[in-house]
Amino acid sequence: MKRMLAAVSVAAGLCGLVGSAFAAEPGQIARGQEKYDYWCATCHAGDPREGGRYLPGTASLNSKYKGERPGALADRTDLLPPYIKLVIRRGVEGMPFFRKTEISDAEMDDIAAYLSRNTK
Ligand code: HEC
Repeated sequence: MKRMLAAVSVAAGLCGLVGSAFAAEPGQIARGQEKYDYWCATCHAGDPREGGRYLPGTASLNSKYKGERPGALADRTDLLPPYIKLVIRRGVEGMPFFRKTEISDAEMDDIAAYLSRNTK
């Protein structure tokens, strides 16, 4: 029994570790949202025709996922920081990449924290 309890507490500890691996402090998420609104929302905001503008990121992801995942990045619950950062630095399909002179590594970390805030 003792051994089993120990195993359970090790497992719980591991889950705690994994769970907090991408945890961000609220200030970082707020900074990330600010940068996201500036650099990313022009293509990735909620409604593909918000304000009469066409949003290529949201439109493209809507047609790619066909309702399985939200088209708007800020509503996603499956994005992990390493993937977000890879896409920011490399670009993807119709998306340009961003240089460190545009978005610094620290700002990129903030954006990744914001977009992964709902990822379990
Ligand atoms: C000029 C428009 C544009 C801008 C600006 C833009 N993106 Fe994108 N992004 C796209 C398009 C288009 C796609 C979809 C590519 C595809 O169809 O796979 C995309 C895809 C992505 C994906 C992949 C999502 C997935 O499900 O695989 C991520 C992550 C992403 N963008 C993050 C960002 C972030 C973060 C920023 C701001 C730093 C940003 N994008 C700025 C157009 C843009």
